[in-house]
Amino acid sequence: MRGVFIAGTDTNVGKTWVACQLLVNARTVGINVAAMKPIASGSFGFKNDDAVALINAAESEEPYELINPYNFTLPISPHLAAQEAGQTIDLQVICSAATKLEKNGAWLVVEGAGGWLTPISLHHTMADVARILNLPVILVVGMRLGCLSHALLSAAAITTSGLRLAGWVANSLPRNQTNKMLKESENIATLSTLLAEPPLAYFAQDDSSATTQHQAATAIARLLGNNKNR
Ligand SMILES: Nc1ncnc2c1ncn2[C@@H]1O[C@H](COP(=O)(O)OP(=O)(O)OP(=O)(O)O)[C@@H](O)[C@H]1O
Ligand SMILES: [Mg+2]
Repeated sequence: MRGVFIAGTDTNVGKTWVACQLLVNARTVGINVAAMKPIASGSFGFKNDDAVALINAAESEEPYELINPYNFTLPISPHLAAQEAGQTIDLQVICSAATKLEKNGAWLVVEGAGGWLTPISLHHTMADVARILNLPVILVVGMRLGCLSHALLSAAAITTSGLRLAGWVANSLPRNQTNKMLKESENIATLSTLLAEPPLAYFAQDDSSATTQHQAATAIARLLGNNKNR
């Protein structure tokens, strides 16, 4: 499969935000993109907000069911949400939807749910979704207190899963009670050392500036410029 799997250090760290930046800016330079949110929970309508954001960013006209095959109402872990809905998440269903989306050689941007090891059943986690799609992984690090350990644990687990960590993104979150971070640049420098590479992109709290576009474009060029990332 050609594309990237967008993992995060946690829920609410900017996976959707970063995925949308990559999709919009990839389209801008003429790349044929496809988007997917295979599993979502906490959806208050027929469609999930993340999936809709990705569809808009990709300007996708593909059937919704391919983009978001599993969509649950309760804002709880997918394995509990699926249980509540009387459903079993089938990795083959996700794989076959991804294959259809990618049919024209589109660059597939797939957003996970929660963190890397979020359970989707008592036997599988989001890591298995990334594995069945066999995509390189981008780790979105939401820059908030606690993210260093989360980032190092996630990076270690991604590598252990046999997938390639294509890079990490430092994402500056809107500051509130949950998202506290002093010395952000020092934390980014620390992670660059401990993860042994600088971030693919640094996103400030902004969604339209030229800097954001430049960061996204650079990340895409680095991802697609390296054949191993395809
Ligand atoms: N760089 C940024 N600038 C401005 N707002 C941001 C940025 N990153 C994230 N946000 C905002 O922070 C919130 C959480 O981001 P987002 O929904 O992308 O997280 P997520 O990891 O996809 O969450 P979930 O686990 O629910 O899928 C959203 O309101 C989003 O718009
Ligand atoms: Mg999201």
